[in-house]
Amino acid sequence: MQEKMISLQLVAFLLLIPLINANHTCSPPPCQCFSETTMICSDDHMKALPEHIPSQIKTLIVVASGISKLVSRLNSTLTKLVLLNNQVHTISPSTFEGMVGLEELEISGSPLMSLETGTFDKQENLTKLFLNNNKLRTLFPGIFDSLEKLEVLQLKGNVLSSINGPLFSKLYNLQQLDLSFNYLSSIDAEQLSGLNRLKVLHLDLNQISSLPADSFNANPQLKTLSLRGNKIIWLPRGIFAQLNNLEELNLRDNKIEELTTGLFPTCLKRLNLKENALDRLNSTTFDGLQCLTHLDLSQNKISQLSSDLFQNLTSLQHLDMSENHLVEIPSTFFKSLSLIKVIHLQKNKLRSIEDDLFSEQEMMSQLYLSENSLQSVPYGFFDPLDYQGLVQLQGNPWHCDCTLQYLYEWLNYSGNSLENLSQISCASPEPLKGRSLISLDKEQLVCGNNRSSSTTSTISLETIEMTSNTTTTTRKECTLQEANGAISIQCKLTTCPHMKLEVHFHSPDGRNVSYSMEKMWPQNYQCFNTTVTLTL
Ligand SMILES: *[C@@H]1O[C@H](CO)[C@@H](O)[C@H](O)[C@H]1NC(C)=O
Ligand SMILES: *[C@@H]1O[C@H](CO)[C@@H](O)[C@H](O)[C@H]1NC(C)=O
Ligand SMILES: *[C@@H]1O[C@H](CO)[C@@H](O)[C@H](O)[C@H]1NC(C)=O
Ligand SMILES: *[C@@H]1O[C@H](CO)[C@@H](O)[C@H](O)[C@H]1NC(C)=O
Ligand SMILES: *[C@@H]1O[C@H](CO)[C@@H](O)[C@H](O)[C@H]1NC(C)=O
Ligand SMILES: *[C@@H]1O[C@H](CO)[C@@H](O)[C@H](O)[C@H]1NC(C)=O
Ligand SMILES: *[C@@H]1O[C@H](CO)[C@@H](O)[C@H](O)[C@H]1NC(C)=O
Ligand SMILES: *[C@@H]1O[C@H](CO)[C@@H](O)[C@H](O)[C@H]1NC(C)=O
Ligand SMILES: *[C@@H]1O[C@H](CO)[C@@H](O)[C@H](O)[C@H]1NC(C)=O
Ligand SMILES: *[C@@H]1O[C@H](CO)[C@@H](O)[C@H](O)[C@H]1NC(C)=O
Ligand SMILES: *[C@@H]1O[C@H](CO)[C@@H](O)[C@H](O)[C@H]1NC(C)=O
Repeated sequence: MQEKMISLQLVAFLLLIPLINANHTCSPPPCQCFSETTMICSDDHMKALPEHIPSQIKTLIVVASGISKLVSRLNSTLTKLVLLNNQVHTISPSTFEGMVGLEELEISGSPLMSLETGTFDKQENLTKLFLNNNKLRTLFPGIFDSLEKLEVLQLKGNVLSSINGPLFSKLYNLQQLDLSFNYLSSIDAEQLSGLNRLKVLHLDLNQISSLPADSFNANPQLKTLSLRGNKIIWLPRGIFAQLNNLEELNLRDNKIEELTTGLFPTCLKRLNLKENALDRLNSTTFDGLQCLTHLDLSQNKISQLSSDLFQNLTSLQHLDMSENHLVEIPSTFFKSLSLIKVIHLQKNKLRSIEDDLFSEQEMMSQLYLSENSLQSVPYGFFDPLDYQGLVQLQGNPWHCDCTLQYLYEWLNYSGNSLENLSQISCASPEPLKGRSLISLDKEQLVCGNNRSSSTTSTISLETIEMTSNTTTTTRKECTLQEANGAISIQCKLTTCPHMKLEVHFHSPDGRNVSYSMEKMWPQNYQCFNTTVTLTL
């Protein structure tokens, strides 16, 4: 991924060069002046940096060259040097001695395995250092000690497996540190000591499995912390306790099974717990997170929710609980979430939803309930929601009887806002199985089989066949009703005049019963949209 991005950048550079007025007089090929102050070199025959860089040039970019060693001192007034996708494997400590004005340095995408102590000793004005996608194995203590003005340090995509001692302890001004895509197995307070201005720390895609409780005690200014894609099972109590400024915490794709109470700092705005192993959440887990606006709990194993779990999340706007094992949601569960806009509940096992579940969610504009086990929607359920919003309901086994008339009408009026409307289809009763709900007529949504008033066991409908010998085909639209022991079949016809209906039942005692009915209308009889009833 990282390498792909770099090669895309490379393509962009190569395309841009001929488009811009290249000034060939400013330096000999393979370098070209990109603007008055920027020089770009890209040639795989190039073996060293240009010896003379005109003094007006402040930025030098070397892309995909054949440079493998940086050994000689180069005097220049460059403020920015970018070496992208080269073959550099050796850098002598004197290389940058004559570039004391450097403010930004990038050496990325090279097979560089180590850096000698002293390499950056003269770069007192450096504010950004990018050493991404190299092959750095270890970093010697002291290597960054002269970089007191450094604000951004990226070491992504190397092969660092440990950090020895307080490597960053002199980086008093560091605000962003990115150590993602390495092999770090742990991180602790000593390694991050001195970084008391650090605002952004990325440790994504490492091998971190445990974190001591004091890991981030020295970094009280942290605003963003990402530990995505590690192997964390458990977070000790108090680990984030000093992070009173933390706004974004990304713990996605770990192995977290449980969350202790009071774990998260109170200013947190975004919390990502996607792809973990959470099954139960103590009702006090999110207490005190009154600033939280985004919470992602998707792809966990949550099966039960206590009704007061979110009672203090009064600022929450975006909630994702998709791909869990939820079977039901307490009716007061979302009560405090009066600012919520988006709720993802798709791919759970919800069997039913309470009619007043969203009675106070007036701001809600997106609701995802697709791929659950819902058979019906309570009367009035969608009434509090914004009709302009987006609702997804497909992939549920809808039982298309009279209880679904509310949903049917709601879909008929607000259908435009439903994504994949035609995929909302009936799983039962048998005659309507597979039919899209909105393609039905409202009259087909009937409750004939009233189990509570009828004790006679029902016989099951096998097939209904309807044939007509007129030139146009007859639409097959039939529903079965059973009430007080009497069975009737209603079919809606769009063409006439001759109709033959055959019904095959399979009774519980193993018998097969067939009924048939034939009806003739006079020639030229206009019987469009006629309903015929066969009573057995
Ligand atoms: C090219 O660069 C040289 C040296 O910087 C400058 O003297 C000259 O005017 C530039 N030519 C054009 C066409 O920009
Ligand atoms: C670079 O500058 C140093 C000190 O100013 C000087 O000793 C050295 O000769 C210079 N090197 C080149 C290649 O100009
Ligand atoms: C470092 O930056 C300061 C302030 O911008 C400037 O005065 C100084 O000349 C710079 N040092 C070097 C060696 O360029
Ligand atoms: C939830 O956490 C609190 C505080 O840690 C504890 O007292 C309580 O017993 C826990 N409740 C459950 C159901 O585990
Ligand atoms: C959570 O909300 C309840 C009721 O609004 C309140 O009494 C309680 O103090 C809050 N808890 C925290 C930790 O803020
Ligand atoms: C469907 O909506 C239209 C208006 O958009 C309305 O005229 C019609 O009666 C509705 N049908 C049902 C079954 O509610
Ligand atoms: C909605 O339907 C379109 C077209 O059939 C399909 O490509 C898309 O994946 C569907 N979306 C969902 C969420 O099922
Ligand atoms: C089903 O039975 C219940 C209770 O006997 C009754 O109130 C209800 O009206 C019946 N529904 C239908 C559709 O017959
Ligand atoms: C349709 O079939 C019926 C009975 O089989 C027959 O009496 C009638 O003439 C047929 N009509 C046409 C248009 O073929
Ligand atoms: C009833 O019909 C089914 C197929 O529809 C068949 O497998 C079964 O043998 C029949 N039973 C009897 C008693 O004829
Ligand atoms: C029959 O009903 C369908 C939809 O239910 C409608 O589109 C059609 O216009 C109706 N035909 C007549 C002749 O009323």
